[in-house]
Amino acid sequence: MNSIIEQLRNRFSEALVAAFGSEFAETDPLVVPASNPKFGDYQSNLAMSLAKTLGQKPREIAQQIVQHLEVSKLCEPAEIAGPGFINLTLKSSYLEARLNAIQSDSQLGAEKAKTPQRVIVDFSSPNIAKEMHVGHLRSTIIGDSIARILEFRNHDVLRLNHVGDWGTQFGMLIAYLREAYPEALTKRDALELEDLVKLYQKAKQRFDEDEEFRENSRQEVVKLQAGEEDSIRAWELLCEQSRREFQVIYSLLDVELTERGESFYNPLLPGVIEDLDYQELTEVDAGAKCVFLEGFTNKAGEPLPLIVQKSNGGYNYATTDLAALRYRIQQDGAERIIYVTDAGQADHFAQVFQVARRAGWIPEGVKGQPDGSPVLVHVPFGLVQGEGGKKLKTRSGETPRLRDLLQEAIARARADLETRLQEEGRTESEEFKDKVARVVGISAVKYADLSQNRTSNYIFSYDKMLSLQGNTAPYMLYAYVRIRGISRKGNINFEQLGTDAEILLQEEAELVLAKHLLQLSDVLKEVEQDLLPNRLCQYLFELSQKFNQFYDRCPVLQASEPQRTSRLVLCHLTARTLKLGLSLLGIPVLERM
Ligand code: ARG
Repeated sequence: MNSIIEQLRNRFSEALVAAFGSEFAETDPLVVPASNPKFGDYQSNLAMSLAKTLGQKPREIAQQIVQHLEVSKLCEPAEIAGPGFINLTLKSSYLEARLNAIQSDSQLGAEKAKTPQRVIVDFSSPNIAKEMHVGHLRSTIIGDSIARILEFRNHDVLRLNHVGDWGTQFGMLIAYLREAYPEALTKRDALELEDLVKLYQKAKQRFDEDEEFRENSRQEVVKLQAGEEDSIRAWELLCEQSRREFQVIYSLLDVELTERGESFYNPLLPGVIEDLDYQELTEVDAGAKCVFLEGFTNKAGEPLPLIVQKSNGGYNYATTDLAALRYRIQQDGAERIIYVTDAGQADHFAQVFQVARRAGWIPEGVKGQPDGSPVLVHVPFGLVQGEGGKKLKTRSGETPRLRDLLQEAIARARADLETRLQEEGRTESEEFKDKVARVVGISAVKYADLSQNRTSNYIFSYDKMLSLQGNTAPYMLYAYVRIRGISRKGNINFEQLGTDAEILLQEEAELVLAKHLLQLSDVLKEVEQDLLPNRLCQYLFELSQKFNQFYDRCPVLQASEPQRTSRLVLCHLTARTLKLGLSLLGIPVLERM
């Protein structure tokens, strides 16, 4: 089933052809949701945009379009306003029919992609032996939501964790392990990650102060690259310790990822350079192999190089990304690759994408999405800041550990819950409280992140994200709980309402809610394109608000039939839409809270 706006667009195109000929078949009908509800539900500015081409007055054009516009099933008669706007108001009978149709659909009318794609979402991607930080948290939350939405749209999604598990820092780490923890090279579980992070700092210190240690570190890199057994063992030990720590976070967040770290691409790096050489893209500059970039210049206006092989023969972050990109297109068959990192890496990706394009790795004809938008997309996000826009810090002034950050959200959600229970004179089991606190705490962190336009920085505030008021997870979860409460109170099994239950839309609040319920499909399509999950948050927030207005104004359980059943169906549809929408943000619902 096409969404309402698509149907209207089709009808406009037909009218345009009927009125002015087939050369207008491809003209964009410019149908958009009305800017103001007083103009109806949708409007088209087509007449104005055609005035010049047709050499007629916009109002006359509008009249001719309207004469040929066959929308009587969907809309009240079209109205022409001002200089030639065409305004449309949906008929309640049509809305009723649409709601009836989505009621019996497990996807609530949300369409699947017409041409499913192989999509890679590269997200989270922390670095071994370093603490996962809030930037990785944002990447994890945003990447997971994007992956969920694309999966829902039926794309074949590969969620890749491009873990930083290779590089010269391992030389330093292993050199230090040998020195300070020789037993660690034989006993696997000798270290915990906190030690690893400290170990990293200590190793770095040794590296900075001692030339002999630096030389040992360089030797360790060589040994590791040569695949020497105990070097590999030490490296694996470091990776495993880190991995365990990352998994604590992924489990708390309920995020699934396939690990394919940087080391995976090691054997492919020489081939990448060969390929670039063959394409005559490389030049040697001060001993390093570079690709000179188009559109990136230094202060003197000279093209900047992207170094792909250092003068000592080593490779770097960019080389690995080039190898990964080529592998993902050629071996994984990716048709769209989405990289979710902080905005600070925008240049890095723009440069890597450019080199990949110039190397001919992005096949002609693979246009990315059906609309021709690019195969390679960097999804940048802003910083997470502390109160007052400063760097996020704990009370004692340190960078908070992610685990602690999440546990704190849970603890605060639990304290809020205890207060509320006391106020309401309720007693609940420990199990109930644990579950609610965990869902509310984690959801609050996720939602606070997702509800912002990702490109802006946001201020991390427990008070704000845990508030029951405003565009927050608790507000949304509570709207769901409220609806489930109606079913409990009226002793009604929503599932058994029957998909043939008649829907009647009479009150304004019912119509407003109904129209909003029917927008889900369009919103998800938008997010698929622009990869902005905050649009889905906004949609769900407005849905909760519109539901609350409906519920304040229209009696449900007290209403007489046939209104009662119709309104119960609206309640149920709202609950299902909230549940589905939240699940795409990685947020589960609660029956009670
Ligand atoms: N490990 C990197 C970091 O912590 C992020 C990797 C992002 N993905 C990529 N393909 N470069 O900043």
